[in-house]
Amino acid sequence: MRVHININLLGSCVLTLLVVSYAAWLVFKPEVARFEKAIVADSVVYLPYPARITNMSVEEAILLRRSIREYTSDPVKIEHLAMILWAAYGVTDPKWGFRASPSAGATYPLEVYVVIGESGVLVREGEYLKAGVYKYDVHKHLLTLIKTGDLRGDLADAALGQKWVREAPVSIVVCAVFERTVSRYGERGRVRYVPMEVGHLGQNVYLMATALGYGAVVVGAFYDDGVQLVISAKPEEIPMYIIPIGVPTKPPRTSFEDIWGYIEARRSG
Ligand SMILES: Cc1cc2nc3c(=O)[nH]c(=O)nc-3n(C[C@H](O)[C@H](O)[C@H](O)COP(=O)(O)O)c2cc1C
Repeated sequence: MRVHININLLGSCVLTLLVVSYAAWLVFKPEVARFEKAIVADSVVYLPYPARITNMSVEEAILLRRSIREYTSDPVKIEHLAMILWAAYGVTDPKWGFRASPSAGATYPLEVYVVIGESGVLVREGEYLKAGVYKYDVHKHLLTLIKTGDLRGDLADAALGQKWVREAPVSIVVCAVFERTVSRYGERGRVRYVPMEVGHLGQNVYLMATALGYGAVVVGAFYDDGVQLVISAKPEEIPMYIIPIGVPTKPPRTSFEDIWGYIEARRSG
């Protein structure tokens, strides 16, 4: 009889535990989903959290990095755009907020905008981000909509008509607020540190894009005021790079054997 009661007690304990666990899972499930999926609100796009999602080694990404100027009509997936933005300037040190790209004295002079074309970024099957200009918030890992409309043509016009700016589904525009670095380092900050930092960011974009199967090209030829106008940048935000990104029509196929052949031919020549 006593055994009977204990088994009943055990059963109800297990049942209660199961019910409580299920309820907790139901409550916390949306939080978990936020880690993996984008949430598109009115003018804010919460990006999927950064994670290890490629199988490409850094040496392969370096080997296969090429400036790519021809793209298919495929969009950039939002989880991939999120990774590219994080690799560009996202936070990699939760204690101090240090970033994926190094910065002189951690002054972080750069601001990152994204120009997205019509059907340029795929959120999920059949759903795309609104075409427009967005600004990347590095600390919250989200995009804020600055203005709507497909402005790739206007951006290309400001970039001397470069076709790849017009045709890429997405372009990252990197701006520099020189004063943040110049106030600490003077002229050396203006002529050396800030341009160096733009290069670091650009290379991270190239490598992350390559590892994810995209192609990119850094574009430095444009009218600063024209680009500022298109992205509605603040007067102190000086455009430094436009980086169009898309799926390459011809992905680079270089192998390490090709490079060995190149080196051997020169050694024996
Ligand atoms: C500072 C800088 C500015 C550049 N500006 C442009 C540009 O305006 N348009 C363009 O098509 N490529 C531009 N490029 C890309 C170069 O043309 C490219 O890096 C070079 O041809 C070598 O090719 P690779 O990047 O595939 O190695 C630029 C590169 C750098 C580093």
